[in-house]
Amino acid sequence: MSSTIRNSSVGVGQAVLQRADVLATFSEDPDRLTRRFATPALREAGEQVREWMQAAGMTTWRDAIGNVWGRAEGTGPGTLIMGSHLDTVRGAGRYDGMLGVLVAIACAERAGPLSFSIEICGFADEEGVRYGTAYLGSGVIAGRFDSSALERIDADGISMADAIRAFGGDPDALECARRSGEDVLGYVEVHIEQGPVLEAEDEPVGVVTAIAGQTRAQVVFEGEAGHAGTVPMALRRDALAAAAEWILTVENFGRGTEGLVATVGESTVEPGAGNVIPGRVVLSLDLRHADDGIREAAHERLLRGATAIAQRRGLEATWSVVQETAAVACDPALTDALAAAAGGDVPRLPSGAGHDAAVMSQLAPVAMLFVRCKGGISHNPAESVTAADVAAAVEVTTRFLGTAPLLEGLG
Ligand code: GLV
Ligand code: MN
Ligand code: MN
Repeated sequence: MSSTIRNSSVGVGQAVLQRADVLATFSEDPDRLTRRFATPALREAGEQVREWMQAAGMTTWRDAIGNVWGRAEGTGPGTLIMGSHLDTVRGAGRYDGMLGVLVAIACAERAGPLSFSIEICGFADEEGVRYGTAYLGSGVIAGRFDSSALERIDADGISMADAIRAFGGDPDALECARRSGEDVLGYVEVHIEQGPVLEAEDEPVGVVTAIAGQTRAQVVFEGEAGHAGTVPMALRRDALAAAAEWILTVENFGRGTEGLVATVGESTVEPGAGNVIPGRVVLSLDLRHADDGIREAAHERLLRGATAIAQRRGLEATWSVVQETAAVACDPALTDALAAAAGGDVPRLPSGAGHDAAVMSQLAPVAMLFVRCKGGISHNPAESVTAADVAAAVEVTTRFLGTAPLLEGLG
């Protein structure tokens, strides 16, 4: 990374971090940051982002799924889309997603007139926390939205279609929000790294080579509820004990397979009382690998493992795939242009986390810039970035926008 970028004015980074602090006040939970898809907190965050976009001279709108957009007109044809997501996990940090939107706005404020137009999107859902299926915002834009998802029900019994209506969107008009890729030169996303590599290499930013593929599944162990005081151990069909055995199988298999990460992050135990043998357990599974073949084989293997554990214990296991996203390579030309804007000598690293860029790659070439985060910690309130690193990201991205010739021939 060039020294002028390392030394770029920290003030712009501080301004971005202050805006991230403001966005963090829009939360569903009073004592932690939680902002799921189509909630009032997400709506307020989106309106705040639109205000900043307007102050940067952009025309703004909200589309049918609730993504917020800003556009700055260029002097010539073609549009570069930038952005990231505004939804969060439960108990989130304040930068995962939001940083990419805020850095893009800071670039629009600084870039001056360009030969191509810039659009910035704050996607309404990337995390998939509310409906279990991720990338709802970018999925609509890239034509990858599966309309059967509109019937999914959240934990409060609200269908996705109704949630979109309550959010001011229109579930019947999602197709209209889809972009034709014709005028789109590319999609560029700035994101915190969410891992430890840049910190270990003492580099503020790096470019992303590829985004790992992921499978999200739901696994249900069905046994029989019973009295905790009267049913002998040998006669039990305890769904939670079966689930626990399988969770350890998942962990062991992930540990034993190079590059595979496997997580059970959610569980529901029914009926859920200390003196009742668990009759039913619903688990989530999140599986990721840079090689789709290895991820798919792992998926098969873990499914067979669940069935075997259930059979041995006299239970039933059922399995449904909620979402699959293939691994995606970032566009070499666009990525080289980003790296060149950073002085050429920057780390190149793959992403284990999912990003809107993975879905936007269906529409246009994509590139990503990662920003170092403290301790590699993310999906955690302790997520932290420095103003200096954010300033470097703004500087690199603004320079990248100034290299319009590099964008010619793309799209
Ligand atoms: C998004 O943060 C994901 O990778 O799950
Ligand atoms: Mn995330
Ligand atoms: Mn993210």
